[in-house]
Amino acid sequence: MTIDIQDSALRAATAERPFPSDFLFGAATAAFQIEGAAFEDGRRASIWDAFSRVPGAVINGDNGDVACDHYHLYRDDVALMKRMGLQTYRFSTSWSRVRPDGGAVNAKGLDFYERLVDELLDAGILPWLTLYHWDLPQALQDQGGWAVRSTAEKFTEYALTMHDALGDRVKVWTTLNEPWCSSFLSYTAGIHAPGHYSMEEGMLASHHLLLGHGQAVTELRRRDASLDLGITLNFTVADPADPQNPADVDAARRLDGQHNRWFLDPVFRGEYPADIVEDFRAVNPAATEAFEAAVLPGDLETISARIDALGVNYYHGDLVSAAAPAVAPTGGDAPTDRRGESPFPAGSGHPNDRGLARTSMHWEVQPEGLTRLLRRVSDEYAAPAGTVLYVTENGAAYDDVVVDGRVHDVERVDFLRGHLGAILDAVDAGVDVRGYFYWSMLDNFEWAWGYAKRFGIVRVDYDTQERTVKDSGLEYARIIEQRALGT
Ligand code: NOJ
Repeated sequence: MTIDIQDSALRAATAERPFPSDFLFGAATAAFQIEGAAFEDGRRASIWDAFSRVPGAVINGDNGDVACDHYHLYRDDVALMKRMGLQTYRFSTSWSRVRPDGGAVNAKGLDFYERLVDELLDAGILPWLTLYHWDLPQALQDQGGWAVRSTAEKFTEYALTMHDALGDRVKVWTTLNEPWCSSFLSYTAGIHAPGHYSMEEGMLASHHLLLGHGQAVTELRRRDASLDLGITLNFTVADPADPQNPADVDAARRLDGQHNRWFLDPVFRGEYPADIVEDFRAVNPAATEAFEAAVLPGDLETISARIDALGVNYYHGDLVSAAAPAVAPTGGDAPTDRRGESPFPAGSGHPNDRGLARTSMHWEVQPEGLTRLLRRVSDEYAAPAGTVLYVTENGAAYDDVVVDGRVHDVERVDFLRGHLGAILDAVDAGVDVRGYFYWSMLDNFEWAWGYAKRFGIVRVDYDTQERTVKDSGLEYARIIEQRALGT
């Protein structure tokens, strides 16, 4: 680490635009993206270890074998978080480390998370634990993965194993990260592990993921009513290209329905959105029938178990037009064209340009979308249920350059400030949003993009594992210290 945070005030700033006194500032990572040590201490392959070895699946053939070597460097990383003033750290635990083939518990794997949590607590940082951030044990995929119901039961067993080990020290538990990605992007679009192209599997996976969430929440709540339990979803803000054109309006409805309501409605209302079920039926009646047969009596009641916190992941919105396919992933997620066999028609993505700046993922920079999203999710779902909101991910990849040991990532500084400002706008409008986690603490393995995309506020040199706090990290540290955005 080459920059002294305390001595590097980038600029003097006023203390204007203060954050609420209980607002939590944090940063996020995920196990597969940073840990490395892929086959150490009893860990076995996850679906991402397998998928990253499929030719063409990940840019440059990158994999998670070493990543940021956080498994060995976690003490340094926690020390860095402390120096930056982070109040909380959102990380995920690796199922493949803890129950390597989905069954027997691996004590050495659990030990790592005990050490990590103790290190965080010693540093005065609140551990924010996510149980599933996409790295299913390959052994469970071999039995059908999320397309089969038994994986939900196994997930609950794994959740309880983690609670046995850490329940005395970890109070905040998130079941799933972005189940849209671990269902449709993974089992239908073929872009994420396990790289399948099946509408039916995607629909089944979404239901079994949600079922695992509901079962785990129910069991964890039964054990300890004081836990803070929740789920993190990925959202888009879908705007019709021409609000006067009914076909564009309908395309926006579809995208909002497939990304947002498909998960919000079962979690908060105990039902899947009927219009989207019908959209799916129109595209693939057999898959929809299989999905309906998989939703057993009582499932939706389980899935809608009360949660304390909803994690909002927001990166960008989408301007959509009638040209958008009936069933579509948002674009920007696929570096390579693996869509030849995909049931998603080609040409999805971001066909409409409204002249907004874009990150190196080609995602639009649209902070005001976050304000609208928070207001809408709060009004329609969270507030009526007594659930509070946290922005559990938001961040940007840019093609950073190192100049004399510094990274002057002015675009990321603007991105960070813009989105924190958008959250303050939502707070001013009365939304109960309690915290923010920048994605990511470290540059890391960006899934199908490998190490080609850097989201970190801390740069990682993958040859030396040296960490360098970028200007965005320094600015974030200043905001946290002043508890104000400043002008
Ligand atoms: C969402 C995911 O949770 C995270 O793993 C990923 O790296 C970021 N988005 C950026 O794409």
